[in-house]
Order: sequence, then C-alpha cells, then structure tokens
Amino acid sequence: MEELLEQLLEECRPYTQQGQVATYIPELAKGDRNNLGIYVQRSDGRHYQAGDYQKCFTIQSVVKPILLLLALMDNGEEYVRARVGVEATGKPFDAINVTDQTLLSEHLNPMVNMGAIAMCTLIKGKDYEERFQRLLDLTRTLAGNPDIQVDQAVYQSEKRTGNKNRALAFLLKTYGMIQDDVEEVLDCYFKACSISVNSKDLANIGFVLANRGKHPQSDERLFPSDYAHYVNAILTTCGMYDGSGDFAVKVGVPAKSGVGGGIMAVVPTRMGIGIFSPGLDSKGNSLAGIQVLERLSKRMYLSIF
Ligand code: DON
Repeated sequence: MEELLEQLLEECRPYTQQGQVATYIPELAKGDRNNLGIYVQRSDGRHYQAGDYQKCFTIQSVVKPILLLLALMDNGEEYVRARVGVEATGKPFDAINVTDQTLLSEHLNPMVNMGAIAMCTLIKGKDYEERFQRLLDLTRTLAGNPDIQVDQAVYQSEKRTGNKNRALAFLLKTYGMIQDDVEEVLDCYFKACSISVNSKDLANIGFVLANRGKHPQSDERLFPSDYAHYVNAILTTCGMYDGSGDFAVKVGVPAKSGVGGGIMAVVPTRMGIGIFSPGLDSKGNSLAGIQVLERLSKRMYLSIF
C-alpha cells in the first residue's frame, strides 16, 4: 500500500504545478505548491502515508463538517436542519445565495461559507471564545491530536481581508438568520478556518466519520451514528462545491476540500484519507489532490456508487 501511495504521488506530481495557491487570503499566497502528501487510516488499524503528510496547513473549509457535527451534537438534527438546509447550492463556496430578494434557511448549506457562518451561532457556549474553544476541542478529539492550534498569521490575515464573508454575514443578519454580533460570529468563523492541521489529522477525522462516530482506537462513541450519516450525505452532494458532481463520478466518496490545499475523504466503513497539495483548481479544490484521489479510488475500488 505504501508503495502504491508513493507511486500515485509520483504520477500526480506534475499536476501540482497546474494549480494556483489561494491569494485572496494574503497569508495563503505564501503556500508552496510543490507540497504533496497523503495519509490513509484504515479500519483494520493500519495506516499508510507518503510525501509531505507531516506538513501543516490551515484547515479552511474542511472545518465545515466539524462545525456541522458540533451544531448537531449541541442541538439535534431537527433544530439544525430548520436553520441551515441541506440542498446543494451548485455554486462557488462564497456565493451569495439570495433568491428573489429573500434568504431562507433552505437556501443555506452547511458546506458553503454562508451556511457555515450561520452554523457558528448554533454552537453552545457562554461567549464566542468558549464556543470556539469547544470547536477546537472537538477537532483535537476527532484528530486524536491534542496539539492542534490556530495559525495566528492566517487568522489575522483572513480577519483583516475577509470582506466577502463580512458581506455574507451582514446579509444573514439582514434576513434574521443570525441574531448575534456579526463581528463576533465572523471572528469565530475566521479562527475556525485557521486551525492548523496536517494530512494525518484530516485522515483521522475522516476515519471517525467513516466509522460512524466511533473513535478508531478506543472504539469510544464520539457522536451518534445518525450524525455521521447526515454529514457524509452532505459531503457527497456538496463537499466539493460546484465540483461535487464531477468528484462523485471520478472518486465517488464523501469529501471536503479547503483553500489551504487539504482534502478530507471518507470511505464509509473502510478508511479516512487526508491529502495536502496547495495548488487549487478554479473551484478552490486541491487540483493534484483530486488527481491522487481519483487514481486511488480506481485502484482500490473506493467509490460508493
Ligand atoms: O471563508 C473562506 O473563504 C475560507 N476561510 C474558506 C474557504 C474554503 O476553504 C473553500 N474551499 N475550498
């Protein structure tokens, strides 16, 4: 298996040069698109890795399924679903999803920015500091890595320049979909996106979702299996935004991308996969990362379809 991963990275290395690192968050422009790494955590307890799997990058939108999980754990499915819908937007991650001059909860999706910003208000805590700390704690628990921290440089960079997200948050406020102070909610969202992880962390988080909520080593239940169904279904339909259909055909597993270059893939009952390569395609998904996953899926018959 390790040999296969090494071989796939070699085959896909040329694609690292075809993607572009994100620049709209100035700090991310410093990313090195030569990086390419993969970590696979399998249900038999074995794990395999290759390339730059230890390199850290910011989680960015891969935090959205964790946010959704925490919102579900804090409030239950009915409450969350009434506030943030589940239909794929078929639009870019930062789309302004206002239909006919109105914005309803069913227009929101937890995997795109507007829905994710709204979800920050669903996390329980006495203030936004405590809410964020609970999200960070859950991320550490799912990854099995207590050392996960926020990348302060990326956080400050995004907070300073994130005016599109500010616009989305004010629209949510205008339409009564968030009640709290917009800057406080955004601060939580920006910090969430700036959590620093590596491919192994993403593979471990993906594995808990693949394992329907049970910790890989201890077998401890971290969240109800229904929530894994909920999150995995949404990852399948819109985890890769307006590239989700293409990804379903080519790879065929629930997955989430981030503009830091990470992809977390969930192969139900079988494995969690973390990939890192910061060159992005036009939809903001890791270009080489998708190529690696496509090949791995074909070689190992990973598609759920
Ligand atoms: O809000 C943003 O624009 C970023 N913090 C996250 C976007 C993102 O990761 C899109 N994913 N591919």
